[in-house]
Amino acid sequence: MRIADCGFQVKREIFQFEISRLCIGDFAIADYRSSFSIRNPQSAIRNRQSAIDMRLKDKVALITGAGMGMGRAASLLFAREGARIAVLDINAEAGEETAALVRSDGGEAAFFRCDVGVEENVKKSVADAVTAFGKLNILFNNAGVLWRDRDFEVTRTDERIWDRVMGINLKGPVFVCKYGIPELIRQGGGSVITTSSISALLGYKRAQDAYTASKGALISLSRSIAVVYADKKVRSNIIHPGFVDTPMQKELSEEAKQGIAQLVPLRRLAQPLDIAYCALFLASDESSYITGAEIVVDGGLTISGA
Ligand SMILES: NC(=O)c1ccc[n+]([C@@H]2O[C@H](COP(=O)([O-])OP(=O)(O)OC[C@H]3O[C@@H](n4cnc5c(N)ncnc54)[C@H](O)[C@@H]3O)[C@@H](O)[C@H]2O)c1
Repeated sequence: MRIADCGFQVKREIFQFEISRLCIGDFAIADYRSSFSIRNPQSAIRNRQSAIDMRLKDKVALITGAGMGMGRAASLLFAREGARIAVLDINAEAGEETAALVRSDGGEAAFFRCDVGVEENVKKSVADAVTAFGKLNILFNNAGVLWRDRDFEVTRTDERIWDRVMGINLKGPVFVCKYGIPELIRQGGGSVITTSSISALLGYKRAQDAYTASKGALISLSRSIAVVYADKKVRSNIIHPGFVDTPMQKELSEEAKQGIAQLVPLRRLAQPLDIAYCALFLASDESSYITGAEIVVDGGLTISGA
């Protein structure tokens, strides 16, 4: 052997030793290897691929505010990806319609009337959903209210409005988690997705402080849940939508929507499906290493300085 080859030979032996040590000795690394498959990445990808052909196969999702807007879009999308859907909404007509749409699309769904701001309602709906579907794997805290005609800056906001907005937007997710997380834990883990808003990240001259504060508090709540229940394999993540063209924005004129679109770098308002696809990713096992995160889905609005 030439002297120049010696270093290479030694390095190669150290490398081989390291590899065999990793293969035999270290459980954590061996575990990592089995999921990543160093020797055969193609088969690892293939295995994962077949598991995600239907991205929510065999899962049950509970979605609040599923009667319209993003909740309806998520119900339809999740069902297409194999999930069975517990449709929760305060509006029975809208909720029944979403469940019927899912069923007519070939999916499985049941509607449960629920005011998420009322603990007993949520407790019963979670129990009814588990009775109907046998389990829960995904909790999507989507229901929320924005009352532009009553929710202003703090100096002008009535306490009853403040309390009701907090009751729906903040306590709703608290109640859903209170009764839903034990069900996820029973299944060996699951995913909690909570819809906040870019309002929680920005200040607006035209303030809706109850809405903004409730959405901000959801960030802290979601992070705490992510840490507390991580060892039970319950993940918790936040979505921050920008302006989404849903019934919530029905008071905006077409002209106002066009004006907002011009401020958005991607030059349009979001459609409900834009948010539903983000929720789908967070609900699926593709995001199994993501918890305590926030994803902004706003077409670039908050980073644009507009
Ligand atoms: N639309 C937007 O531009 C926008 C932007 C950022 C964040 N968000 C948030 O996204 C989520 C979905 O918004 P959307 O635009 O689809 O709203 P939406 O008003 O179109 O639909 C909301 C649904 O929630 C239901 N709901 C209202 N109060 C409820 C209660 N107490 N209990 C149960 N259900 C109730 C309504 O009946 C409705 O079906 C909300 O949390 C909202 O704050 C919306």
